[in-house]
Amino acid sequence: MTAPADHPDQTDVTDLVGRLDLATKVRLLTGATSFTLHGEDSIGLAPMAFSDGPTGVRGLKFTGGDHVALFPNATLLASAWSEDTAHEVGEMLAEEAERQQIHVVLGPTINLHRSPLGGRLFEAYSEDPLLTGRLAAAYVRGMQAKDIGACLKHLVANESETLRNYMNSVVSEEALREVYLLPFEIAVEDSNPWSIMAAYNDVNGVAATEQDHVNNEVVKGEWGWTGLLMSDWFATKTSAPAALGGLDLVMPGPDGPWGEALVRDVESGAVPESVIDEHVCRLLRLAERVGALGAHRSWPTDSTAPDAPVRRGQLRRLATDGMVVLRNEGGVLPLTGEGTVALVGRHALETVCMGGGSAQVNPPYEVSIAEGLRAALGNRLTVVDGVEVRERALPAPATAIRDPFTGEPGLHVEHVDAAGVVMLAEHSPESQVTTGWDDSLPRPTQQLRLSALLAAGGPVRLGCSGTGRWQISLDGTEVASVDLAPEGADPGESMLKPPVWTTDVEAAQGSLVEAVLTIVRSEPKPGPDGTLSTLSDAIASGMGIKALVVAPVPAPADRTIAAAVEAVRSADLAIVAVGLTPEQETEATDKSTLALPGQQDELVHAVAAAAARTVVVVNSATPVLMPWADEVDAILVVGLPGQEGGHAVADALLGIREPTGRLVTSWPTADGAAPAWDVEPRDLRLEYTDGTFIGYRGFHAGHAPAPAHWLGAGEGYGSWAYESAEVVGSGPAPTVRVRVRNTAARDSREVVQVYLQPADQDQPVRLVGWTGVQVAAGESAEVEVPTDARLWRRWDTEAAGWGTLNPGGSLLVARGLGDVRATLALD
Ligand code: BGC
Repeated sequence: MTAPADHPDQTDVTDLVGRLDLATKVRLLTGATSFTLHGEDSIGLAPMAFSDGPTGVRGLKFTGGDHVALFPNATLLASAWSEDTAHEVGEMLAEEAERQQIHVVLGPTINLHRSPLGGRLFEAYSEDPLLTGRLAAAYVRGMQAKDIGACLKHLVANESETLRNYMNSVVSEEALREVYLLPFEIAVEDSNPWSIMAAYNDVNGVAATEQDHVNNEVVKGEWGWTGLLMSDWFATKTSAPAALGGLDLVMPGPDGPWGEALVRDVESGAVPESVIDEHVCRLLRLAERVGALGAHRSWPTDSTAPDAPVRRGQLRRLATDGMVVLRNEGGVLPLTGEGTVALVGRHALETVCMGGGSAQVNPPYEVSIAEGLRAALGNRLTVVDGVEVRERALPAPATAIRDPFTGEPGLHVEHVDAAGVVMLAEHSPESQVTTGWDDSLPRPTQQLRLSALLAAGGPVRLGCSGTGRWQISLDGTEVASVDLAPEGADPGESMLKPPVWTTDVEAAQGSLVEAVLTIVRSEPKPGPDGTLSTLSDAIASGMGIKALVVAPVPAPADRTIAAAVEAVRSADLAIVAVGLTPEQETEATDKSTLALPGQQDELVHAVAAAAARTVVVVNSATPVLMPWADEVDAILVVGLPGQEGGHAVADALLGIREPTGRLVTSWPTADGAAPAWDVEPRDLRLEYTDGTFIGYRGFHAGHAPAPAHWLGAGEGYGSWAYESAEVVGSGPAPTVRVRVRNTAARDSREVVQVYLQPADQDQPVRLVGWTGVQVAAGESAEVEVPTDARLWRRWDTEAAGWGTLNPGGSLLVARGLGDVRATLALD
């Protein structure tokens, strides 16, 4: 693959750098705000704006920003196994960025699914480096064709979240090259991304932001990459080591470890000025590429709104395409004909359409599964709530509260400074507010006053979330006065998982809730390595998310399950929606189990026993345990399906569009039954002992019991006969030609996958190519699957270079390695 022709660099950036003095140059190398950079008029540099994230462009505000389109999550998009899909997503995200005048989108996330416990897997594509790299490259090409920069993240070996600011991923050079760097290498080679983000963690004892080996030697050196390397937010800990270690830009700003310290390092000779010049050149090259240097780009005025019909249609189609049919006994799916349907489960009513953390956006609406199926089935549908699925109380949904001043859903918020002056009083459509971060207030908020009217009365769970001293009152009577301290061993965790406090009260509809938060500065908490991160310091000064909690008091699980059983008994079919929540699928923390939270398994067992037929919809991005799998008729995995989620689920269930997804990660049978499991660093070290045997590679080698479902598995609504398979062509990476027949009565899409089992005993099986094909009912098609030469190499540690595999071995044509359809011996 050759990279697309790059944007022509019209300006001699070296010449521009030569016109700046040292202090000016260094100033450019730290952000100006949370998500913007400094401009420099003297050389025609406009301030650039960056925004998260991989599946939706949030804008410049961490919470409470404008409405933007919420895409299906990364695993769901990847499950289509389609570079065309990834390309289209890149283009759509670029349009979302243009609408908001954002120059660089902070995605795609291309870390791998190593342990299924990783909290952030929902944001990344797969456990496979080829699938990840190729999809990332297509996404980048789609985005950058519109002159919006992409940012591959997080370089490198950032596969879990626990103690991410302090932990050290210990990875062999072989595993780095063949597995963890490979998606970056593929994307750099095939799409020339204009920026990359260095991770929080250390790699083999050196911070990713200071990794001379990875950043300078490999990425900028061997691969000849010309883009800008920025740090993850608050990840940079040093001045000279980071500047010398290949980092070009510290984010966020305005403060950080560079600034005057880096100027001094240059003056003392610790950092040559040429190193600074090189960083600035890369920054200016990025600016040139995104139209922020010289003649500035013009932004479109006729952008597609996030809720425009065309966008809705795209998001709905993309979500359905990635959904995976894991079981379909007796062809119960797609649902046809008449009959009544009982839909059960908290995820039916509160469908989880996105994961947590920095990938979150503020969508114009989210269609729940209940709403989607109601629109499709009308009064054939009955909906029953399920068991509680959350451990921590959530910020109040906007519909649970009304602004006492405007009457709109949401709350009234006042930011007060240390002198008692109200700096900002406004309506907030959300019940959460961020203080000390990306606000544009003149002075720090000292007190935050939240007020709202309750939309419903009865037993209410009332509370607050966020660090500081809270006083909560109901209709003028104090309910509580509580001090909440930051939690979490890692500052990222403290920020994204603020402390929560709740109490249950009896309240009337329309009661006034007032929550006053006084910010208390605590001592910054040093990390387990004894260092203080700039983020810890910010958190200690009160920065973070603050929210009002209002929720109905949950009903006991046995009562909920009994009501569900009652409802499904009288229906022709039961659909149970189960899943994870952003408590598990989020940034800065990992999971500890793959079991569904709450008593969801009990609910499914009970429904399956009572219903005539049961379909389970799994609303999670990543593997869950399904102890009831054999008791139900069908299982559809719907990922975190974005704002059109419920409609997309209805389309998939009813076969209005085929759910063509194939798993992007193997699903273990039990907790611990995976080639890599533990995500708790020991003495801050996390050893990647699985080496190159990640995911299905390790399962296939017998390093763990066979998974319940392999990467690449997924039935769709077709049925496939593989009529022939042969290796065609010679050379280092031959093509495989396969004839497949769709033996089903419906048109369908197949994903023909080819894996290489090398002759070398120490080498794992690996995906080397795939091709998707749409085939009409009863018809056959000849499919060519080119294999990727980059998977036919092995890293030779002794020679410190790429070597070749031994001749021989075989190619496996498979629908996931649990269903191998042909084995082709290689000479
Ligand atoms: C995440 C990045 C994200 C950044 C900015 C960090 O916490 O790790 O992926 O781009 O925040 O929000």
